[in-house]
Amino acid sequence: MTFGIRKAVFPIAGLGSRFLPATKASAKEMLPVVDKPLIQYAVEEAYEAGIRHMIFVTGRTKRSVEDHFDTAYELENELEQAGKTELLKIARGISPDDMVCSYVRQSRALGLGHAVLCAEPLVGHETFAVLLADDLMVGQPSITAQMVRQFEQLQSSVLAVQDVPLEHTNRYGIVSGACVSSSLTSLTGIVEKPLPANAPGTLAVAGRYILTAGIFEELKNTPKGAGGEIQLTDAIAQLLTKEQVFAFRYQGTRYDCGSKLGFLQATVDLGERHPQVGAEFSAWLSARC
Ligand code: UTP
Repeated sequence: MTFGIRKAVFPIAGLGSRFLPATKASAKEMLPVVDKPLIQYAVEEAYEAGIRHMIFVTGRTKRSVEDHFDTAYELENELEQAGKTELLKIARGISPDDMVCSYVRQSRALGLGHAVLCAEPLVGHETFAVLLADDLMVGQPSITAQMVRQFEQLQSSVLAVQDVPLEHTNRYGIVSGACVSSSLTSLTGIVEKPLPANAPGTLAVAGRYILTAGIFEELKNTPKGAGGEIQLTDAIAQLLTKEQVFAFRYQGTRYDCGSKLGFLQATVDLGERHPQVGAEFSAWLSARC
């Protein structure tokens, strides 16, 4: 039995086609919201939850992610020589000494489920977290920390969920189940991107999961589903025929930074809260209205 979560998987091998042309040759996960790339927000969230082993499932245009979490000798040397200690602290703080990063390639974008399966050799037999960096999640404590706390009590897979408008069900995995408490549902079903008319409800999965290692066996047997991709949702639907799976209504805000609108909303909200530029930016926004 596992009591803590030590490893987080970041599937970042998707094509990011909703964000073209920016993502033609660059990683969507490196798009900055104010001054920090999306992937760094997600890694910091996992780190805050006590996770120290970060596993990235990368693809062809994602090499900058590896560089971002590596030491930048020249930059650090220049900053040190110039006595720019604050900037040096920022550059070094990206990868704390007790954090380990591993990388595995998904050579073809065969779907989120396939990407998670690519991490199996690095995850092994333990329960792990999955964070989709294009869902920027803001919460106190972090959404992953909230989910780890749930897992410690439940010892079962936990999916982050939120209520969405009925007309948006075709953008999400939608869950159904029995209410355990105001924030917990014991899953009886999950379906990928159902049309509103077929949706079993409006409780939608956001990009944070705690999954037992049993998911890997299900993924190996999951055929291509919606969009011709191997869907994590389909594997979870199989998993819950064998194990209990819970949906957890997190406390916080999700920004869909895989879409242009969500990215702009995150930029405005986090810009207004930024310690350096927030006050001035807010004043500028108010003056325009
Ligand atoms: P998305 O559904 O957002 O797909 O994937 P995408 O390819 O990144 O973006 P669009 O839809 O073309 O604009 C959800 C998450 O799963 C990862 C993505 O990187 C993203 O974090 N993913 C998706 C993979 O790692 N591999 C895949 O084959 C598909």
